Amino acid sequence: MKKLSARRRHPLAALVVLLFALAVTGGLYAAFAPADKAQADDTAQSLAIKEGKKLYAVGCASCHGTGGQGSSDGPSLVGVGAAAVDFQVGTGRMPAQQPGAQVPRKTPIYNQAQIDQLAAYVASLGAGPAVPGKDQYSPDGADVGKGGELFRTNCAQCHNFTGKGGALTDGKFAPTLEGVDPKHIYEAMQTGPQNMPSFGDGTLSSENKKDIVAYLDAVNGDDTASPGGLDLGGLGPVSEGLFGYIFGLGALVAVAIWVAARTTKAKKS
Ligand code: HEC
Ligand code: HEC
Repeated sequence: MKKLSARRRHPLAALVVLLFALAVTGGLYAAFAPADKAQADDTAQSLAIKEGKKLYAVGCASCHGTGGQGSSDGPSLVGVGAAAVDFQVGTGRMPAQQPGAQVPRKTPIYNQAQIDQLAAYVASLGAGPAVPGKDQYSPDGADVGKGGELFRTNCAQCHNFTGKGGALTDGKFAPTLEGVDPKHIYEAMQTGPQNMPSFGDGTLSSENKKDIVAYLDAVNGDDTASPGGLDLGGLGPVSEGLFGYIFGLGALVAVAIWVAARTTKAKKS
């Protein structure tokens, strides 16, 4: 007893007690803190990366390199982000098959779960745009008129006025945007596949992207096709002008002939 009280007065006693108390608090916190969920998310994520790495080694490494560093047959995937993978593999463009002017859209060969794993793996190689959430690309609550304006300024020169698509140089083409999943439209803007420029959030805010998706949904969706009747192919001023030229001018010519015929008849009689 005497020994203990003597130690209590030792100059370092307070420090020892403090350290002991800190250790106990820390230990208790570690034991009871709600760390379970974060840990579970972590392991799910690293599991997805692991599975994705396996899929990648089989399907993609031959062109993009074993660590995604790229090769003579494919570009580096470091930093392209999950959105690029979700777009490229989700639209069946990747894995690419035969060389050509442009890698075309195909029936996807991976299911969405595998695409998510591939995306998780590629995202782990370097930070890039993430796959957008449904609230980002769903047309609900977006401004369709604004979207049309933005589409005509930024996209129509390649994809035509309502996204019917068109030819570019050297056998390349801007595909039709009819029937393209809203998520893939959003990702195409984020990542700029092949000859398409990318429209990062600095160029087109996420709200602007949503408006464009809504515009395409309005002009190409099945329920709202051509509220005004005949859409003339949706090709914009060329077909509309031709229509006006042939039918409008034709009608004027017909009227002129009719008037002329009547006046000559009137003169004769
Ligand atoms: C036959 C070779 C080949 C295979 C196999 C292949 N790719 Fe590609 N990949 C390419 C080429 C070539 C490009 C570049 C296309 C271009 O931009 O013209 C590309 C582009 C990409 C891009 C776009 C990169 C960017 O900068 O946005 C992604 C993402 C991608 N590939 C992912 C994959 C994934 C994932 C797989 C496996 C499922 C895969 N690729 C398999 C050849 C290949
Ligand atoms: C310079 C021409 C150009 C411009 C401008 C352009 N694109 Fe593209 N776009 C392309 C080309 C080329 C492709 C095909 C790329 C490929 O196959 O990987 C493409 C592909 C796409 C796809 C994929 C379609 C599919 O079949 O999967 C979407 C969606 C898309 N563009 C939307 C847009 C939107 C929205 C804009 C405006 C914000 C835009 N593009 C601007 C050239 C362009």
